[in-house]
Amino acid sequence: MTLHRVARFADVTENRGLEVRIDDSKILLLKVGDQLRAYQGECPHAGAPLVEGALCNGRLTCPWHKAQFRIEDGGLCEPPALDSLKRYSLEVRDGEVWVGDQPLPDAHTPRPMMSAPL
Ligand code: FES
Repeated sequence: MTLHRVARFADVTENRGLEVRIDDSKILLLKVGDQLRAYQGECPHAGAPLVEGALCNGRLTCPWHKAQFRIEDGGLCEPPALDSLKRYSLEVRDGEVWVGDQPLPDAHTPRPMMSAPL
């Protein structure tokens, strides 16, 4: 995995994400307190640009069909999306934001299997 310098820390505001690109991949930077997170830039449901989503109460709401994801870790909170957001490694060095070009392994707990009716 290679880290790429994509933005300055100051470019990411509290109430708005910042979309950056590494090659053909869109990546969304979000501020979480005094830290940043990097997630896939397109919704896993149908590809909406998540930079146009709403940030409220610790959640990111997709602009198209309103799936919700936790800002803290990208975990899925509300459908219709079925998957959490892929997260990318991120480092801040001297005010510059560096992001990895490969998503991290999924850290989310798998949802329990639905049991079939008896
Ligand atoms: S594209 Fe995001 S919920 Fe449908």
